[in-house]
Amino acid sequence: MADNTPYKTCFLPKSKEEEEEDERIYKRLKEIVATLPTIKGWSSNPMYQYQGFWYSSDLVGVGPLAVHDHFKAHTTDVLLAATPKSGTTWLKSLAFAVMNRKSHPSLDGRQHPLLKFNSHDLVPTLELRLYNNNHNGDRIPNLDILLSPRLLATHMPYTSLPQSVTHSGCRIIYICRNINDTLVSYWHFFNRVRSKNNSSMGPITLEETFEWFCEGKSEYGPLWDQALGYWKGSLDRPQNVLFLKYDDLQEEPVLHLKRMAEFMGCPFSSMEEKEGMVDQIIKLCSFENLSNLAVNKTATNHLGVTYDAYFRQGKVGDSMSYLTSEMMEELHHITEQKLHGSGLTL
Ligand code: A3P
Repeated sequence: MADNTPYKTCFLPKSKEEEEEDERIYKRLKEIVATLPTIKGWSSNPMYQYQGFWYSSDLVGVGPLAVHDHFKAHTTDVLLAATPKSGTTWLKSLAFAVMNRKSHPSLDGRQHPLLKFNSHDLVPTLELRLYNNNHNGDRIPNLDILLSPRLLATHMPYTSLPQSVTHSGCRIIYICRNINDTLVSYWHFFNRVRSKNNSSMGPITLEETFEWFCEGKSEYGPLWDQALGYWKGSLDRPQNVLFLKYDDLQEEPVLHLKRMAEFMGCPFSSMEEKEGMVDQIIKLCSFENLSNLAVNKTATNHLGVTYDAYFRQGKVGDSMSYLTSEMMEELHHITEQKLHGSGLTL
């Protein structure tokens, strides 16, 4: 693969027969995608609808179908799932720091991987990085090469995950965020991606983004349905699905980081707590710290977008400066309707 990420070993050369098999797999998936409903999206290429959710072919290629058919979860895996623009980068950083704290105990030292890599390069997203034919060519990654427990991520809905994820011991940590802030963050981010990919298209207006978003035609949308899928998963299988909210994590980081560590099977010991490990991880992964690192100011993701696009404000309620009261009312109305009776609030 083009980038120098720690997981590049998943793409070591294969035999000719294996390569031909991978090509056959991707050819079939591209044929399936060609038959799916499409709409004009935020880029010059269309979005397609797969199992009720929208994906940009630019962004993921046929990745979601490849994940659905070919990703095999291990019972020891921890899968981080997120609504786009809900704190994925933050969750990846926190989970990585928690899981690897024994091998990288000196969190403040210069050696910690989070100081050298953006968390998206440490915790790859299955459909965007690993199974994305636009990024890697027609190659199924060999994820068995990764050390256990594997820490992986996805934005795909719960209902589209392979059975090896939803019917095994694999643990999922899901994060979402209040709808208003998600929408505004989404708008800013996709304008960055769009200007990088095709500068001739010009920026998308907030009004246009709002319209698509409300119709459920945003990346991985409808986002309400995505959140509901994981919410139901967390109620049905609480040992396997932990449901988090960005807003709660901002308010009570210590509480939620401890919940995460416990859920991941590596709770903080009383000694670690006494020595300040929880606070150190929170500080290491704070917006202020990560957003000021050289790697996050200059390195680029697989789309060529600088990682600073993932660090904008990092505040709860920032959307109030952008959305009109009519827009907020409409979002509130849709959210009430969509989540009615579920017990979930967004
Ligand atoms: P804003 O655009 O509201 O600032 P994602 O990682 O899912 O793409 O989400 C991006 C959002 O998370 C952005 O929100 C970004 O600023 C915020 N974010 C990124 N890193 C963060 C951190 N360490 N702590 C809190 N928020 C963070």
